[in-house]
Amino acid sequence: MRRSGSDWDLLPAAEQPNWRNHPHYERTQERLSAAAPLVTEPELTEVRGALAAVAEGSARVLQAGDCAESFGDATLSRTAAKVTVLNELGDLLAKKVSRPVVRFGRMAGQYAKPRSNAFEVVNGVEVPVFRGHLVNSFEPDHAGRQHDPRRMLWAYQASADVLGALRTHWESGRSGPWTSHEALVLDYERPLVRAGIDGDYLGSTHFPWVGERTRQLDHAHVRLLASVTNPVGCKVGPSTDPETAVRLCELLDPGRTPGRLTLIVRMGRAIETALPPVVRAVRRAGHPVVWLSDPMHGNTVRAETGQKTRYLADIINEATAFARILDAAGAHPGGLHLEVAAEDVTECVGGPVAGERQLTTRYESLCDPRLNPEQAFELIDTVF
Ligand code: PEP
Ligand code: CO
Repeated sequence: MRRSGSDWDLLPAAEQPNWRNHPHYERTQERLSAAAPLVTEPELTEVRGALAAVAEGSARVLQAGDCAESFGDATLSRTAAKVTVLNELGDLLAKKVSRPVVRFGRMAGQYAKPRSNAFEVVNGVEVPVFRGHLVNSFEPDHAGRQHDPRRMLWAYQASADVLGALRTHWESGRSGPWTSHEALVLDYERPLVRAGIDGDYLGSTHFPWVGERTRQLDHAHVRLLASVTNPVGCKVGPSTDPETAVRLCELLDPGRTPGRLTLIVRMGRAIETALPPVVRAVRRAGHPVVWLSDPMHGNTVRAETGQKTRYLADIINEATAFARILDAAGAHPGGLHLEVAAEDVTECVGGPVAGERQLTTRYESLCDPRLNPEQAFELIDTVF
């Protein structure tokens, strides 16, 4: 069901599933339109206030979780394990910077992935690539990799279950962790846009972000996030020039509201040359954004074992450069956006994972390689 004010829906959009002709497609749209929003406007007001404090320098952010959540993780115990790690890392960061830390899980909705290639070869067979549990199955066969719109309903239910588990933490008096995910699949996000008191809001999560592959200025994703009252994020990669960054700010933060927009910097080695002019231009244009470092996505390499991996040393270098560049520009380094597992996985090299040959010991990610808790502790302890 199309809502009023959704002009963005007529614009082109990259990375969308191919399922419009599926017999269940229309019904999924009706069901999602009739479903209760997962987040409330008072919660969004609280999160906006928390991010305003980060923009002004009196607090920091830690946003962390899986690259791709699994439907199988939508349980009380799995969620509790992730919240425990997020809070322990947040507590360490708070101690190191002597400021409160606002916590966001990449959780309760991080079920869809943009991908560089449409197909991959598994065991000698070419199959459509895995696009997250919201779109298809991880099982690498042709049937499992078909795009199935009913998965949007399962994603909604899994998100509701994870949020239910998170709410028990809020009720014990903690503020957050709040939820966040990449707002990628428009057939899922569109029916969850709801009319609120101050305007439309996205009912699928507290803090949606737009990814590096879908942040085109004249495409639907940026305009969707521009149209909602949630605080929003936007990834900023190595090819971002200062003019593009300022245009993104104009679209996503027209009112120049502290904390309304978070720029999530993921530049890899290019950060030294690419970030300073972007920071200068955004500051000159008067946008009080939150600057966040995602030191993961610009540092992905292919290991000799065949897996995707990341070196902790590269991640530490990027996060350190980020803090130095922001400080030098007179801006606040707002914190970190990480991919971290709750278990001792062996997906990134560094700390307890001595070399690439150890990656096969416990590699469980559905998508990108995550730090294990010990590696994430070392990162925060070294950078701040
Ligand atoms: C992600 O955060 O998992 C992701 C796909 O990042 P990016 O859009 O920055 O590549
Ligand atoms: Co990722």
